[in-house]
Amino acid sequence: NFNLARYLMSAPTLAQCPPETGVEVCFAGRSNAGKSSAINTLTNNGKLARTSKTPGRTQMINYFTLGNPEQRIVDLPGYGYAKVPLAMKREWDRHMSEYLQERQTLAGMVLMMDVRHPFQEFDTTMINWAVEAEMPVHILLTKADKLKKGPAQSTLLDVRKHLTEAKADDLVSAQLFSSLKKTGLPELIAVLNRWFAE
Ligand code: GTP
Ligand code: MG
Repeated sequence: NFNLARYLMSAPTLAQCPPETGVEVCFAGRSNAGKSSAINTLTNNGKLARTSKTPGRTQMINYFTLGNPEQRIVDLPGYGYAKVPLAMKREWDRHMSEYLQERQTLAGMVLMMDVRHPFQEFDTTMINWAVEAEMPVHILLTKADKLKKGPAQSTLLDVRKHLTEAKADDLVSAQLFSSLKKTGLPELIAVLNRWFAE
């Protein structure tokens, strides 16, 4: 039950993550893509994950438990934030690929991309790392309320076409999402329930 989500802990590095038991789903994406907002929408708790107009709000790996303490969602720091020093970025990239490849408890990745700017730098890298690790990815095209229905739908179709052409469509799915309007929530919940049940 996503409404029963609770804050568990923040880890400054992947080495300090909780023990590898149970099942986890991580929320990843560029800084400001709407990761923390999506977690709050999913859990029906506007105060759970801190959101901000300023990119780079989430700098730690934040863990939340669901009704079942052995089921967790993970709010990852956003990437692509210009003000982060390059050395830190490189360090983070290395950790991120390791995390996706090696974290045994990780059942899937929800990848947020602003519907107005899909497949920016590093989005594709994240998808490739997950696919290499044979981990399913579910893309949320966020802030769908910023586009009219027609353009939003055609972006979704373009994204799906791109995934099919990249032969990634068996592991990677996509949908429209808006935290503001709460659209796409049942679709997201269905995917997460499937991952947590496996
Ligand atoms: P970092 O923690 O910096 O990586 O950002 P984040 O990906 O967690 O983004 P966050 O959820 O903090 O949202 C960033 C900004 O986008 C905030 O100003 C949100 O209010 C806004 N936002 C998030 N989701 C939506 C949405 O569905 N619609 C609209 N219009 N704005 C949104
Ligand atoms: Mg955040």
